[in-house]
Amino acid sequence: MATIPVTPYSLGVCYYPEQWDRSRWTNDLNAMRDLGLSYVRIGEFAWSHLEPAPGEYQFGWLQEVLDLAAERGLSVVLGTPTATPPKWLVDWMPDMLAIDEDGRPKMFGSRRHYCFSHTGYRGVAARIVEKLAEAFGQHPAIAAWQTDNEYGCHGTILSYSDAARISFRKWLQDKYQTVENLNQAWGNVFWSMEYQSFDEIELPNLTVTQPNPAHSLDFRRFSSDQVKSFNREQVEIIRRLSPRRTILHNFMGEFLAFDHFDVAGDLDAASWDSYPLGALSLLDLPESHKRKFLRSGDPDFPAFHHDLYRTCGRGRWWVMEQQPGPVNWAPYNPSPHPGMVRLWTHEAFAHGAEVVSYFRWRQAPFAQEQMHHGINRPDGSPDVATDEIRATVREIRTISESDHAKHGITRVAAVRSAGGSKAAPVGLIFDYQAAWTLAIQPNRESFDYFTLALSFYRSARRLGLDVDILPQTANLDGYKVLLVPSLPILRPNLVASLKSFRGPVVIGPRTGSKTPDFRIPSQLPPGLLQELFPMRVLRAESLPDFAPIPVSWRGVNYQCRHWMEQIETSATPWIASTDGDAIAFTHEAFTYLATVPEQSLVDAMVEDIVSRTDVPFMLLPDGLRTRVHGDLRYFFNYGPTKVSLPVPKEAGFLIGGPELPVAGVAIIQL
Ligand code: GAL
Repeated sequence: MATIPVTPYSLGVCYYPEQWDRSRWTNDLNAMRDLGLSYVRIGEFAWSHLEPAPGEYQFGWLQEVLDLAAERGLSVVLGTPTATPPKWLVDWMPDMLAIDEDGRPKMFGSRRHYCFSHTGYRGVAARIVEKLAEAFGQHPAIAAWQTDNEYGCHGTILSYSDAARISFRKWLQDKYQTVENLNQAWGNVFWSMEYQSFDEIELPNLTVTQPNPAHSLDFRRFSSDQVKSFNREQVEIIRRLSPRRTILHNFMGEFLAFDHFDVAGDLDAASWDSYPLGALSLLDLPESHKRKFLRSGDPDFPAFHHDLYRTCGRGRWWVMEQQPGPVNWAPYNPSPHPGMVRLWTHEAFAHGAEVVSYFRWRQAPFAQEQMHHGINRPDGSPDVATDEIRATVREIRTISESDHAKHGITRVAAVRSAGGSKAAPVGLIFDYQAAWTLAIQPNRESFDYFTLALSFYRSARRLGLDVDILPQTANLDGYKVLLVPSLPILRPNLVASLKSFRGPVVIGPRTGSKTPDFRIPSQLPPGLLQELFPMRVLRAESLPDFAPIPVSWRGVNYQCRHWMEQIETSATPWIASTDGDAIAFTHEAFTYLATVPEQSLVDAMVEDIVSRTDVPFMLLPDGLRTRVHGDLRYFFNYGPTKVSLPVPKEAGFLIGGPELPVAGVAIIQL
């Protein structure tokens, strides 16, 4: 059944009526409407207010808020409150708490204090979802539901609880059938780790030294499946009782602990929470980069996730929480440069977002997030984001009135990027099991999958190219260039798709280096990739930061780091270190990297490769980014100085002009 349509370019806000006196609700909702917002997300942390004692439901206040919203034409996203189980529930079932890797319970007193495997908790969680969906599923204000809140936030996917142990054994039994199969697959003959029965198998924590990596990988897969089934339970209840409402979850940035493609497969749309400045502070990137983009955020981080979640949502996605000012949770929390809230909003729409919703309506003067700014200050006065949102609303009107929107191109673009013929010229294969595999056995401290993937992504964006982020199972038809940052466990279906792919493919180190059972392939790495690339990795070494690999290529000096493979191949060496060892090889349309090149070298290589195709590109200055959406081309200036846009003088600007100030946005009609 089709869901209630979303008006393109909608804005929203996260609101916590339970945290404010009811005398403020009417004014708040009026002010949201007057600001031009049309969506309000509520409820996701309100369990203790909705069910103060077991089975005692107090839904009157929520009914009132929903009625007030409906009267004002505001659409509500109702969050299920399962990220914040109330105290009575924890006291009732103390073993529902997740257990950390060191065997300690994650106690009540903040949020996300539950184990995905605890069947008792899951029953009570399903009950509150069902009660809410029964009470409000057909309410005219409700346009969408959000399941839970940020699965995995605060490191809460892996739980080493008794409940997890029981479920894991069952999961292993289903997977391997016999314990002999498991022993064989994991290589348990090593160190006398053989089991006689599934009931003997423990969780991979508290071991003397590292547990068997195959054990750890299966535990990660299992934990991801637990998130999927927990989420699916809620989705099924909501679908039954609240038909036509869009069901989403709010995923996070740089978060890899479960398979988002998989979990999102049960949702109608994906959404994510975008905190560009907090995120930049946590990236593994040089201080100079962080200084440069301190108040704008990394120029590719939001876009990377927009492109990822567009795929997860099969073309339908939102930003559920957009940073409007300083946050409270990062190591340091700067103010955004004036204009950035507007820029981040337009950029999300440029990547096809249906809704951008700010976090939060008003800064709370109490509890954990009192230093987190919102659209309004704790006293109710408008904080600086308000004017930017107002300006954005006006500009959205201009965009919507352009031919672009009249022809409904937003929708077409979303559908195109979901499958079939692709809008973006570049595809980047992103894989959660790759992240787990490299985290379990990094072989080099801080060998980081996400950093590597972001560097490949950045190299395409620097050329002004649109990118789709894809799972290994994606249909690659229509893409012109493919980037594969690293894929230790290569799936046969991707190898088959690569065989028929017409266009250059850039493949990063460690690809094909493991089997699904976490073994070195019998034919040596790159395993299945050998069907495409005649090579064997004879040895891999990892290196400290103080011993990078110097490379000089076309008169420019670069460094590679962390990793170096010694390769036997009939392929052509392309780029070599100053010591003469090849770091990149080419064979037909494939390029393989034996190391982790610094960003400027990835950029130079990708530029060279793209320039040999018929894909039109432009070399953008650091900090300038562009994106095509329908028949509009957007430009965004993340950099610290103004830039001149690489567009012809006669270009028709819908917004902005050829000189883009810091934090500027320009939109031209193509
Ligand atoms: C998100 C979360 C919100 C709020 C916000 C603060 O991770 O979903 O509830 O905590 O961060 O930035």
